[in-house]
Amino acid sequence: MNDRGNRQALRIERREDNTAVIWFDTPDSPVNTLQAGFDEEFNRVLEALAADKDLEAVVLISAKEDFIAGADIKLLNTFSSAEEARGLSKTAQKVMDRLETFPVPIVAAIHGVCLGGGLEVALACQGRIASKSDRTRLGQPEVKLGVIPGAGGTQRLPRRVGLEAALEMILSGKAISANKARALGLVDDVVPRPVLLEAALQHARKLIRKREEEKAGPPQRGMQDCIKNCIKMLSLRNLRRLLLEKNSPGRSLLFSQAKKKVLARTHGNMPAPVRAIEVIRAGIDQGLEAGFKVEADAFGELAISPQARNLMALFLAQTALKKDSGTDAQVTPRQVHKVGVLGAGLMGSGVAYVSAAEAGLPVRLKDMDNEKLRGGLRSIWNSLAEQVKRRRMAPRERDRALALIRPTTSYSGFGRADVVIEAVAENIDIKHQVLREVEAHGGPEMIFASNTSSIPIHKIAEASKHPETVIGMHYFSPVPKVPLLEVITTEKTAPWVVATCVALGKRQGKTVIAVRDGAGFYTTRILAPYINEATHLLAEGVSVKDIDKALVKFGFPIGPLKLMDEVGIDVVQKISKVLNEAFGDRMKPASVLEELIAANRFGKKSGQGFYRYQKVKGVYRGKGDQIDKSVYQLLDIKPHKKLEADEIAMRCVLPMINEAVHCYGDGILRSARDGDVGAVFGLGFPPFLGGPFRFIDARGVNNIAGQLTHYQERLGERFTPAPAFAELAKQGTGFHDEKAPPPPGEAHS
Ligand code: COA
Repeated sequence: MNDRGNRQALRIERREDNTAVIWFDTPDSPVNTLQAGFDEEFNRVLEALAADKDLEAVVLISAKEDFIAGADIKLLNTFSSAEEARGLSKTAQKVMDRLETFPVPIVAAIHGVCLGGGLEVALACQGRIASKSDRTRLGQPEVKLGVIPGAGGTQRLPRRVGLEAALEMILSGKAISANKARALGLVDDVVPRPVLLEAALQHARKLIRKREEEKAGPPQRGMQDCIKNCIKMLSLRNLRRLLLEKNSPGRSLLFSQAKKKVLARTHGNMPAPVRAIEVIRAGIDQGLEAGFKVEADAFGELAISPQARNLMALFLAQTALKKDSGTDAQVTPRQVHKVGVLGAGLMGSGVAYVSAAEAGLPVRLKDMDNEKLRGGLRSIWNSLAEQVKRRRMAPRERDRALALIRPTTSYSGFGRADVVIEAVAENIDIKHQVLREVEAHGGPEMIFASNTSSIPIHKIAEASKHPETVIGMHYFSPVPKVPLLEVITTEKTAPWVVATCVALGKRQGKTVIAVRDGAGFYTTRILAPYINEATHLLAEGVSVKDIDKALVKFGFPIGPLKLMDEVGIDVVQKISKVLNEAFGDRMKPASVLEELIAANRFGKKSGQGFYRYQKVKGVYRGKGDQIDKSVYQLLDIKPHKKLEADEIAMRCVLPMINEAVHCYGDGILRSARDGDVGAVFGLGFPPFLGGPFRFIDARGVNNIAGQLTHYQERLGERFTPAPAFAELAKQGTGFHDEKAPPPPGEAHS
């Protein structure tokens, strides 16, 4: 494949028993992918096998740990036209067709990930056997990259697992386990990994026998077979398929429900899932050939869409971050054998959870009294139980993770912790106190990491005897779910400390960005002006509903006012004060916050904020579906101002991305890549827009600076464009351009 000399990804092993094994082993790559030229290679192998007249059965298996991770995303990201992408899809379809119609049965032996084009290869084989392993996952994740399966997957998957299950898999992009795949009929059997190859060969022989029997005429069935078949037909899944999928009104219902669900989730921002529904439908209504054609057309158009480009860029950024140590210095992270966590509240218990359940590390969890510890352990238990319920964890693993967490009200056991992460109250005096206590119990190289969301780390480090070991590890709530960790380094933080904490974060399952210290670091700093602008809009008379709806339509998971309710209005106010002090009028909060706090409306935790919440078992819960209209009276606002949703969204987004550019210019960020990843994975910035910097690049640096200036003239200094805009405009580059001046970064070396 490609320009790899004689090194090929596919190798045939001819066996004496007239079987052959195709070993898939992409050269120079940790995973198997379908790279440029894969068609030629498949054709070469299939021709060689076709010439072997004695051949009876073939198995396709990976020589690596995983089966196939799909098409090469770097390749998908380089199409210059829809025509070119459509061409690739057609080529892939032809290869799959050749596999499917190969005269000798080819069975895919699947262990590890079998995703995207990988699953399409497996679907085109005549049989599929999967290994009984947690590592084995099968899925069509293309919509997560802004495209759809382009090698026949939209046509073969519904025919194999049924329409409803195929829609679920293709539209969600979620992968399923081997057992689920067997239940759906996606794989024919699940076997222990050591016998995978042999089981696949046996299955291929079974397929030959079946073909021969079919040739000989219809089988004579006994009474027992008939009963078995009837029971199978009457299974709930089959009945459902009969009722919904085997007739036109039932199918129409499935398609319209699927579309409704997709639009409710994506607000029309993502063309891929909508196109996927159309393509699947075309194949079912008009037949396979028409389905393949529509699939290739849609794949071609989607592959060059801005959404796909942005989502693929995010995947590549995330992959690059997996290898980034967080520092430009050549250092090796130190081994972490044990973690200490201070504070068993929501954040502390979340940090303990990811340290034990994800990283597999022993954790000492300290709080002031047993009541608080009990609360923390309960919340850890709930997270673990949820994993078990979703079958992402076995009860055995849950018990093991729980056993790793040792609660304490003293510092006993902290002496041997390599990293202590504090999640105590957001108060500098308390942070100083716990820092001194931790240092009194540990050695000079014990790392002290603060989970503060706003206090500058260098201020916390002032109380330390060895500030080179003090760092920020900023997790996001709920810690088990939000994928980002922001590591904050001061000028004094030692590079080995940075590398160790970044590596720890990755073990905890996080995507980690390392940023330079400063008020609000990166994520809090860009979130504050966004939320602040929402309160300005509210004060001007735009309704809570219109504000939140506009930002959800823009692509955020929840609106800014709902977000304030979730975070706590008092917490937002505290952070706003810190940022206002650091950055002056640009971050001056609207008076709304003070008034809400004076009325004891702290958001969800107090049952009232912008929305109203119900108390269940003593705790306020619920999504806050109802806006609490008394907020208008309290703030003396008449919600009569009507603005276009686009204008509302841009009013909030512009200050956010402007602040991101300030962070770039101030050297808080190490790269535009980190800024994009931080905003998307930490704050829910719409992934299909790629992040603040890709958003600016797409719209144009001058265009965004112009929009900011427009609002600056109307609404004041908080919209003044950050200086880096002018610098980039002068150079004529975007932030992701190779020629873009990098952010000042001496603090990271
Ligand atoms: N195309 C190109 N490269 C891929 C790839 C793909 N589909 N899948 C994985 N890789 C590469 C990564 O870029 C990385 O490359 P590098 O070592 O040169 O940086 C390497 O494989 C390892 O991937 P990584 O993500 O670091 O390993 P992991 O074990 O954490 O995860 C996967 C492995 C396969 C689960 C994950 O990479 C993944 O989800 N890949 C995308 C799968 C996909 O969406 N396929 C459909 C494509 S249409």
